[in-house]
Amino acid sequence: MKTTITIVDNLSTNKSSYTQAVDLLIKGEVVAFPTETVYGLGAIATSEEAVAKIFEAKGRPQDNPLIVHIGSKEEISAFTHDIPKLAEVCMDMFWPGPLTLILPLKPDTLAKNVTAGLQTVGVRMPEHSVALELLRQLKQPVAAPSANKSGKPSPTKAEHVFHDLAGKIPLILDGGTTGIGLESTVIDFVSDTPTILRPGGVTKEMLEKVIGQVSVAKSTDHEDAPRAPGMKYAHYAPDSPVYLIENSITKVQQAVKKIHSEQKKVAIIASDLFSQIKGDYFFSLGKENQLGDAGHLLYQALRNCDETDVDIILVPVLSKEGVGMAIMNRLEKAANGKWFHI
Ligand code: TXA
Ligand code: MG
Repeated sequence: MKTTITIVDNLSTNKSSYTQAVDLLIKGEVVAFPTETVYGLGAIATSEEAVAKIFEAKGRPQDNPLIVHIGSKEEISAFTHDIPKLAEVCMDMFWPGPLTLILPLKPDTLAKNVTAGLQTVGVRMPEHSVALELLRQLKQPVAAPSANKSGKPSPTKAEHVFHDLAGKIPLILDGGTTGIGLESTVIDFVSDTPTILRPGGVTKEMLEKVIGQVSVAKSTDHEDAPRAPGMKYAHYAPDSPVYLIENSITKVQQAVKKIHSEQKKVAIIASDLFSQIKGDYFFSLGKENQLGDAGHLLYQALRNCDETDVDIILVPVLSKEGVGMAIMNRLEKAANGKWFHI
């Protein structure tokens, strides 16, 4: 299959790109598109056959459910029911935006493979002009995971999607680099207390201001039924092993020395504060303490490592405040919990 990349930078001049994408989706094909978080790979959420193509293109395990994307709030009544009051409040406050709500699924509405047989469904309205225009022209819910090969970092550029899925999907809408760079916050409204299953751009602090106490699921919870990404499968992993390390220039220098003494090559992914350290490769997460920039740059940095001959990747840990919780959640998964000890 030939994969076309179409640049969609200005709504008024790109009518034909949307028509092409809408036509493909209606025909039961998959299309990659940008959102404010990462690129998604979409299919009509009511077609089991179309949704199956997402799993096939990504190599995604069948028991990992997909997020349903909508262009207007009214659409959710077609496939959810008994929506808790606090969930309504969150939709009004944070949609469109990087917040996915887990809600009760109305039986026999969506294709079974969207929800992996669960009686709940994850829903969000993305805050990106291209995604919203596509969804609004289509007027149907779209199931869309991140548009990466399963296990790899999510794509923040159309090139990343092409790198992972070329030949497997017909169309990528290229809307440039995504803003947030980390996937949406996933919050479960089916459990007694609203529970964050995956931290993201809408932080715990932001949620608690609006709805009061919110729990955070440990990533080791629910190993058998993956309620949230990365709880069971490898995620965000470059080809070479990632190690977390203390946020200290001296410690990273010592680690580099040790790695070099073993004739190995090392990449450092860190804020510019660490750029003077003489490793073999350095991929910047921006200025020190700018967590928004770090989130935006993280997946590109992890992907950059795969273009090198590096043996080990070191990442000094960041603060877990605000969006730092989401960044550290992804890094802990990328490292599979490994720390570099000197
Ligand atoms: O920002 C995002 O959320 C991006 C863009 C494309 O919207 N999408 C994304 O999808 O990250 P994905 O599939 O890579 O991650 C969604 C995760 C799934 O892995 C799944 O574990 C969780 O959300 N999820 C979906 N439905 C669920 C459900 N009913 N119950 C619990 N978790 C669910
Ligand atoms: Mg994903």
